[in-house]
Amino acid sequence: MTQHALQSPRDILVTSALPYANGPIHLGHLLEYIQTDIWVRYQKMRGEHCVYVCADDAHGTAIMLRAQREGITSEQLIDRVNAEHRQDFAGFLVNFDNYYSTHSEENRKYSEYIYRQLRKNGHIATRMITQAYDPEKNLFLADRFIKGTCPKCKSEDQYGDNCEVCGATYTPMELINPRSAISGATPVEKDSEHYFFKLPEFDEFLREWTRSGTLQPQVANKLAEWLDAGLQEWDISRDAPYFGFEIPDAPGKYFYVWLDAPIGYLASFRNLCERREDLDFDQFWKPDSKAEVYHFIGKDIINFHALFWPAMLHSAGFRTPTAVYAHGFVTVNGKKMSKSRGTFIMARTYLDHLDPEYLRYYFAAKLTSHVDDLDLNLEDFALRVNSDLVGKVVNIASRTAGFISKKFDGRLANRCTEEALLQRFVDQGDEIADCYEKREFGRAMRLIMELADAANQYVNDQQPWVLAKQPEQSENVQLVCTNALNMFRLLMTYLAPVLPTTAEKTEAFLAQPLDWNGRATMLVDHSINRFEPMMARVDMKQIEAMTEASREEMSAAMGEPAAKPAADIEPVADEIEYDDFARLDLRVARILKAEHVEGADKLLRLTLDIGSGTRNVFAGIKSAYQPEALEGKLTVMIANLKPRKMKFGLSEGMVLAAGPGGKDIWLLEPHDGAQPGMRIR
Ligand code: MSP
Ligand code: ZN
Repeated sequence: MTQHALQSPRDILVTSALPYANGPIHLGHLLEYIQTDIWVRYQKMRGEHCVYVCADDAHGTAIMLRAQREGITSEQLIDRVNAEHRQDFAGFLVNFDNYYSTHSEENRKYSEYIYRQLRKNGHIATRMITQAYDPEKNLFLADRFIKGTCPKCKSEDQYGDNCEVCGATYTPMELINPRSAISGATPVEKDSEHYFFKLPEFDEFLREWTRSGTLQPQVANKLAEWLDAGLQEWDISRDAPYFGFEIPDAPGKYFYVWLDAPIGYLASFRNLCERREDLDFDQFWKPDSKAEVYHFIGKDIINFHALFWPAMLHSAGFRTPTAVYAHGFVTVNGKKMSKSRGTFIMARTYLDHLDPEYLRYYFAAKLTSHVDDLDLNLEDFALRVNSDLVGKVVNIASRTAGFISKKFDGRLANRCTEEALLQRFVDQGDEIADCYEKREFGRAMRLIMELADAANQYVNDQQPWVLAKQPEQSENVQLVCTNALNMFRLLMTYLAPVLPTTAEKTEAFLAQPLDWNGRATMLVDHSINRFEPMMARVDMKQIEAMTEASREEMSAAMGEPAAKPAADIEPVADEIEYDDFARLDLRVARILKAEHVEGADKLLRLTLDIGSGTRNVFAGIKSAYQPEALEGKLTVMIANLKPRKMKFGLSEGMVLAAGPGGKDIWLLEPHDGAQPGMRIR
């Protein structure tokens, strides 16, 4: 990259999108954080002056409502989630230089500053708009918080912006029988003044910016489409009650979460600058800065990063990002991650069963610089990790290290002999480096595995285990193993950004740091340590245990509302035949007892009377309901579900519960005329 050749080391600031603070990290998220972390570790290894910052995206209605449901303050919720997120990321070896929160003083300061600059430059407009309002909860309702019957195809229970059945789009008030998804109340229309960012005034600037090599071709094309369709003013205010920052000089008005979220990048970096003498905020963010700024994001949030954000920065007098890199979405076994299939896998669940480096390698092996989706095929995952990492790379060391420690007291030979082959290993480092730089990680992994194949071939050809039986070949054994271990050293140098733990173990084993820039110097006449097994094979059983645990969590989470209404709502599952439906024995059940389960965060143990007897069911509705409030209520259960052994005991069915909790629960009041045992059809 010629633009970078000028300064060395390069000053590089890297960010990943800020995960919402209202839900746990899952494997979909991790694609992004792993991709970014690999890129950052690579830059650091090359000696660049690179920092990686992130934060929780802590504001918005969803977080406020969730905290209310849990009976805690928004601050308590975001603090708890922040600690969980940090743990999850650390578990996957994602090494942020700073992990902060958008609910911070720095962020308030920059948000207010940028807003004031926009206003001073005439880029803020205000006008009245009419919106749906929940008269019970006293808050304005975003489209996704309104449900009702589709005005076109009459499907029930559709969201306020479009129908998932027929695809019609409409305004929430056009729904038949609209109701608030929060309280169940019928929304009314209400006027209020909103603040807008005048994006259309940046049309020319954005056309220029999107063509300046800052975006991937697919993304630039998408933007050209949006620009041609005409930009709209962006509504940046929300009325109280809202969890966020109040807009200066506008009491009761708050910045929309997406206004202060990207500013969170500045705030997190600013916060890092406080404790890092080598970092100067202005040097990175002044308009003519030579430093590089990269945002790694998912394809769903391109508009925020490639339209609003550069326009805001430009108007406020900051530099714009060097590039925005979007990636695609993770699917599992070819399908959207699904709770019922057990493929909606939380970071923590994965870590309970599998080594984080497996996933880092698998994602790396499949990542390109493009925006395409990435399939995590769990069988392929196991095969790939076992054959590449265990079977090829680590194998080289495990086949040769023993001879060095047993026969040569841990001492490598005083020279390498396979100059041509080793030179190929060294030279390939340049191309592999280029692949890392360009985010073509898949190609980098292929090049590395080709080298690993060559190294194994070399060991196969030389057969040190045969030579070792011939005393006159002793020197050769040492040379062959020294050559092979140098190949291993080079492979692990190239894999270090992907496999930080194995790289550390390799450094301990070789008693020498892995040094990309100094890799051409062979490790000779040097004592190494005894080889310890570095990586275990993946067993399909571990994967099954993980998906099983994910399924259980999902049944434990049943009744718990989706963490993020806008995107986490699953599409309607695969269609079933009427016969499948008819096989469900749905019964009215009376909740005789509802009790806490020792050691389970989400579960309640329910004793149900279904007329013909009682059933024991574990239901994941603890966060939504107080147990006492449930006793005596009627619910609907699937009475013929095969009993499942769960950690806490046998669960003999499932109860149906949905909705946001509180009083809006899908349980029946006794006066509804239902009786235990009654069949539902
Ligand atoms: N809070 C916003 C980002 C604000 S950035 C100023 C947000 N949060 S998120 O938690 O929904 O997503 C965080 C990142 O994870 C996004 O870049 C998103 O694209 C990515 N992913 C979330 N689910 C994903 C998959 N299933 N697959 C790949 N990436 C996904 O958006
Ligand atoms: Zn419809």
